[in-house]
Amino acid sequence: MAYDLVIANGTVATAADVFEADIGISDGRVVQIGGDMGGATRVIDATGRYVLPGGIDSHVHIAQPSGPGIVMADDFDSATRSAAFGGNTTVMPFCLQERGQSLATAFRDYREKATGSHVDFGFHMIVTDPTPQVLGQELPALIEEGQRSVKVFMTYEAMRMDDAGILATMDVARRHGAKVMVHCENEDVIAFLAARAAEAGDVAPRAHATTRPVAAEREATHRALTLAEVVDVPIVIVHVSNGAAIDEIARARSRGIDITAETCPQYLVLEADDLARDNWEGAKFVCSPPPRDTTEQKNCWRGLETGLFDLFSSDHCPFRYEDDQGKRNPAGLRSFRHIPNGIPGVETRLPILFSEGVMKGRIDLTRFVALTSTNHARAYDMYPRKGTIAVGADADITIWDPQVRKSIRHADLHDAADYSPYEGFEVQGWPETVILRGKPVVEDGKLTAPGAGREVPRAAT
Ligand code: URP
Ligand code: ZN
Ligand code: ZN
Ligand code: ZN
Repeated sequence: MAYDLVIANGTVATAADVFEADIGISDGRVVQIGGDMGGATRVIDATGRYVLPGGIDSHVHIAQPSGPGIVMADDFDSATRSAAFGGNTTVMPFCLQERGQSLATAFRDYREKATGSHVDFGFHMIVTDPTPQVLGQELPALIEEGQRSVKVFMTYEAMRMDDAGILATMDVARRHGAKVMVHCENEDVIAFLAARAAEAGDVAPRAHATTRPVAAEREATHRALTLAEVVDVPIVIVHVSNGAAIDEIARARSRGIDITAETCPQYLVLEADDLARDNWEGAKFVCSPPPRDTTEQKNCWRGLETGLFDLFSSDHCPFRYEDDQGKRNPAGLRSFRHIPNGIPGVETRLPILFSEGVMKGRIDLTRFVALTSTNHARAYDMYPRKGTIAVGADADITIWDPQVRKSIRHADLHDAADYSPYEGFEVQGWPETVILRGKPVVEDGKLTAPGAGREVPRAAT
């Protein structure tokens, strides 16, 4: 048999094993692992490299409407370019239903925008307006078609739902077979504290963190888990930032609730004190939940080490700093309340976890693969086509150089934001070649197959 591509001499890692083997690829799929490969159209020598399943980032925001006068920095072109350079072969952005809008129309329009992406993609839906039309017809139809994940928000005035809306949405998800992702922060607590801070003249970016305390996240996490328990629907607790929320998840799991738990780089290596940087620089770190302190960083690491967390995602949500539509806009300068929430990170997710996790001995390589790829495919119905290196799987492979040392600089990244919150952060390990369905998409520092991304079919399990 002649292969289209053989990846030779590398160390292969999956979520289960690490082993030396050559990988034979034909027609976009892995067809042989180990043994004599015979002829190949092309051989990539991966000596001294890890051969990993391509990263799957199941929590990214791309071209998402963000309120009047605010524009997200990335469209699908720049976001998926950045994702590819960061070692990812699949991303999952969110289709937002704005209040008063049809979910079906929003989804049709959003899916259209993804055409021409540079990596594969799948979608989550955000429901903000649980009308009879949405819950009775549009959401069931989209779930039946394979869109089996929906996010709801407990915070943000323009997006939040009350418990009744969340319960009703969860019930539809349960009946038709979708998971519900929940952004857990208590909006009334935040609004109360934000108003009090404003009254006291405490309006600089640091107040974003003090007005979104751990207690607001802990209470909302407990409530979301309770609602999921009552409805009996699988729940994803996204972007967990602290030990108290982790404890809620552990307790709920022991009650038998089906929970997927996610954390993100910002909760491992950023702190609330970063929001206190001078001259409004702190705005570069404004995301929700906010980064906490070193104790909570340790708690999040423990969650990764012990297996409490299933997913490590970026929550890439890029806004420019200098633009009048971004984080430093004149309206924003009046108060932290006007700073758009979210930070870029799709390209730096894998290097940060590899460097801080694998290189520092906190997690092993199989757990790294599970947290950054395999578990995402499993959680969102893409496994085993995606998320592993196995005969029959899509040949989505990242060849990883574990030796290279870098200082993260936004100037070297490929997103359309104008800064990185990780500027100057030192890492060891970086993706070298990224292969999407058997074809290199990033090689020698270049995007070699622009527009090769496709929507991933999501199989019912
Ligand atoms: O601050 C954040 N995380 N913005 C993105 C939206 C979200 O809540 O995930
Ligand atoms: Zn159904
Ligand atoms: Zn969120
Ligand atoms: Zn998010």
